[in-house]
Amino acid sequence: MVTVAGVLADAPLVLGIETSCDETGVGLVRGDVLLADTVASSVEEHARFGGVVPEIASRAHLEALLPTLERGCADAHVRLADVDAVAVTAGPGLTGALLVGVAAAKALSLGLGVPLYGVNHLAAHIAVDRLEHGALAQPVVALLVSGGHTSLLLVADVTQDVRPLGATLDDAAGEAFDKVARLLGLPFPGGPHIDRAAAAGNPSYVTFPRGLSGPHDLQRHPADFSFSGLKTAVARWVEGRQRAGEPVPVADVAASFQEAVVDVLTAKAVRACREEGVDTLLIGGGVAANSRLRELARQRCAAAGVTLRVPRPVLCTDNGAMVAALGSALVARGAAPSLLDLAADSTLPVTSVVV
Ligand code: KG4
Ligand code: ZN
Repeated sequence: MVTVAGVLADAPLVLGIETSCDETGVGLVRGDVLLADTVASSVEEHARFGGVVPEIASRAHLEALLPTLERGCADAHVRLADVDAVAVTAGPGLTGALLVGVAAAKALSLGLGVPLYGVNHLAAHIAVDRLEHGALAQPVVALLVSGGHTSLLLVADVTQDVRPLGATLDDAAGEAFDKVARLLGLPFPGGPHIDRAAAAGNPSYVTFPRGLSGPHDLQRHPADFSFSGLKTAVARWVEGRQRAGEPVPVADVAASFQEAVVDVLTAKAVRACREEGVDTLLIGGGVAANSRLRELARQRCAAAGVTLRVPRPVLCTDNGAMVAALGSALVARGAAPSLLDLAADSTLPVTSVVV
């Protein structure tokens, strides 16, 4: 106990700020211990447009940032003056939205006289698992599934060595969830709604295509994904029903679509572990909150003798804790901080963990 308390008291307090999309996130982390994860979302302001409107997101971040920061400090029972380092999402994401977080982080770093780390949002989705399951095994295969990205990564060290094994050739998994939800008349963002609707549906009702999974594709694209054909197949199927004047069985279509997505994601992720000789799979990003993805990954990893790590759902979707977790890992490694002229980079590649 003494050691645990000692580590907790001694480890630097890292503040994480996330503003890459529609969530204003503030996280406070000491070592691997999560002290606060405070999120303000503008998602309801975007819902009627069926997608995130960048200008609305930027303005919402401006309004939410300071109150969220204050709430985060109160939740963690710390003062801003206690913060030892500031980490912020520098990319990828919406430029205007990123700028709000980056500007705030620079001001805090300068005002508090503490180092600044501009970090990669995608690496942060991986690093957040430290807060739940402790230090990462090295290496791990990471399946990163969010609204804007879907890739398989070989992560030797999340603070400095992240290598792509494959990625989606078209839509991201989350994007496919959101588009299919729209087709089915479900609200934005569609992922959680499809997840809930599918719980009452039959996943074998329609056999939708599994992208890039035939023998020839598996040879050429073992770790790549494609979801646009699946999305089109669902649209055709729904249109066929509507033309025939028949009702669309929303729960069954949602379950069948979801099954097609998670079947391919889990099959390719487990295969990548085998190919790379890696015995741990980590799943991160908003789609990792999906209940069927978590369940099928659990089954397939158990069958393949692979250890599965998935953070709890609230840590999978965008938040500040994940940025603080990566910042904390960078501080622990003694990584060089970012410069104060740090720029937001909307297309920051996953290989750039810190800017
Ligand atoms: O990582 P994230 O919060 O933001 C980005 O970095 O994009 O991911 C958002 C995506 C959205 O497409 C949303 O529909 C999806 O994650 N998502 C889900 C679930 N919860 C969020 N998709 C499927 N099932 C869920 N339960
Ligand atoms: Zn994300």
